[in-house]
Amino acid sequence: MSIALGSDHAGFELKEQVKEYLQSRNITVTDMGCYNTDRVDYPDFAVKVAKSVVAGEQEFGILVCGTGIGISITANKIKGVRAALCCNEYMAEKARQHNDANILALGGRTTTADEAKKIVDKFLSTSFEGGRHKLRVDKIHDLTGK
Ligand code: RB5
Repeated sequence: MSIALGSDHAGFELKEQVKEYLQSRNITVTDMGCYNTDRVDYPDFAVKVAKSVVAGEQEFGILVCGTGIGISITANKIKGVRAALCCNEYMAEKARQHNDANILALGGRTTTADEAKKIVDKFLSTSFEGGRHKLRVDKIHDLTGK
């Protein structure tokens, strides 16, 4: 499994903690920046990660900004992306089971590292249920094409 990571300055610290955690579990990560706390624009990193996930280069993406809002809004502009901002394990579970989310968004200023690790674990270990949920996901992509 390979995971693309991206953040802005406000998400940098949590992104680094998530990266260390994934690496400690022998999960391959591709860190697409940012690489320090200098102020940057979250759309630049959302687009890098989103394009790489849609291209099939990475199984999933994890994006972090201050709240997770701006970076998830941006990622969802890329065709084929289903980015879900998750604040707890339940949301992460449903994002995979019901929405087939391919990008997890986290808030660096709203979610602790311990909580983020649990959210990440749940997201990566939960499968899409398909069935009626596939029909709904297909309707999302009908809006713009897949
Ligand atoms: C940066 O200050 C902040 O606006 C950004 O990280 C994010 O929270 C936007 O949604």
